[in-house]
Amino acid sequence: MSIKNLHDKPFDESTIAKLEIFEDYAQAWIPTFVMQGVSTICIFDFFAGTGYDKNGIAGSPIRILQKIKEQVIPIFQRKVRIRVYLNEFDKKKFELLKQACSDFLEENDHVGRAVEIEYSNEDFENLFPKLLPVIKEFPSLVYLDQNGIRFLSEKYLLELERTRQTDFLYFASSSYLWRLGEGKEFKAHLDIDMSEVKKEPYKFVHRSVIKQLKKKLPDQTEIKLYPFSIKKGANIYGIIFGASHPRAVEKFLSVAWKRNETNGEANFDIDDDDLKTQQSLFGDQPLTKIEAFQKSVKEKVLSGEISNNLQAFEYALNEGHLGKHAAEVLKEMKKNEEITFNGTSPLVTYDQVYKIKRKINYTIL
Ligand SMILES: C[S@@+](CC[C@H](N)C(=O)[O-])C[C@H]1O[C@@H](n2cnc3c(N)ncnc32)[C@H](O)[C@@H]1O
Repeated sequence: MSIKNLHDKPFDESTIAKLEIFEDYAQAWIPTFVMQGVSTICIFDFFAGTGYDKNGIAGSPIRILQKIKEQVIPIFQRKVRIRVYLNEFDKKKFELLKQACSDFLEENDHVGRAVEIEYSNEDFENLFPKLLPVIKEFPSLVYLDQNGIRFLSEKYLLELERTRQTDFLYFASSSYLWRLGEGKEFKAHLDIDMSEVKKEPYKFVHRSVIKQLKKKLPDQTEIKLYPFSIKKGANIYGIIFGASHPRAVEKFLSVAWKRNETNGEANFDIDDDDLKTQQSLFGDQPLTKIEAFQKSVKEKVLSGEISNNLQAFEYALNEGHLGKHAAEVLKEMKKNEEITFNGTSPLVTYDQVYKIKRKINYTIL
């Protein structure tokens, strides 16, 4: 399999989409711990590249530093140390990476006072076990922007699963799996049931990867995995987000739904929702992703399976939806006198459920 050298050319649209999701998540993640005044937080970019593409567009490491720069005042005020671990295996790229970051810090010396950067020029396979104790010790955000898919193997995924305060974002070339997943060489790294994957249309390959990875996690795992599929020509790539804390999950889903308000999970119309919307104009009414979710919320409320805002919020996150999607249908049900609850809002938000801990019940009328 030939792996192309990404930085020999400009980032394409799909790479930029990936990088924007990475940086949007960093933007949401950093203040969570800064506001708590946690003493040290860590960001790991294990496949950091050169810093910029051929046209000077920032790659992941520079975007991380930019996000720290945006929040540097509260970082100083709360005396939070941010350790940034940047790794790049290719020696030439590694030198460019160090140069790009030191130029950035020279121009932004206040950022330099807020972060400690640790550079390494190692194979991920060797570096990961060395840094794992640090990932385990501090709240950590881990980027694994690999070429291909092999580092999704259980060897790494299960280690990440065992950490308690880690959010991770993998990048995976899911199309490789479709083409090569049956091969011995591939299976040695990542053994996935290809007959299951191939039962679904090709466009769902990234979603299928996640379904299969979930089966590899321990039964009682608290880690939740979410896909964001990225189409580029005929190929499907994607992000795999993993975290155990509902606050982290809610933040990632907000980033994903902001990117695509129709499905929150792809840079294209993965479930043909546009077509469904057009068909519903002619009375056939196939349900869009949000409508189907809202119908299921309504059924669960009427059957008593969901009877309060905690259950509604948890159900929304488990299904890859935002609390507001559930809230919309709950409000409508109240208006239609199918249920009642105190106040005007069904309170299906992270803050209400976990921070303020305000519980409200939905009573069937
Ligand atoms: C998809 S690119 C990362 C791009 C980067 N995140 C950016 O925004 O520019 C993957 C990078 O990982 C490097 N790489 C490939 N195999 C590696 C390995 N085993 N360990 C560490 N880095 C590796 C490649 O040289 C390449 O620069």
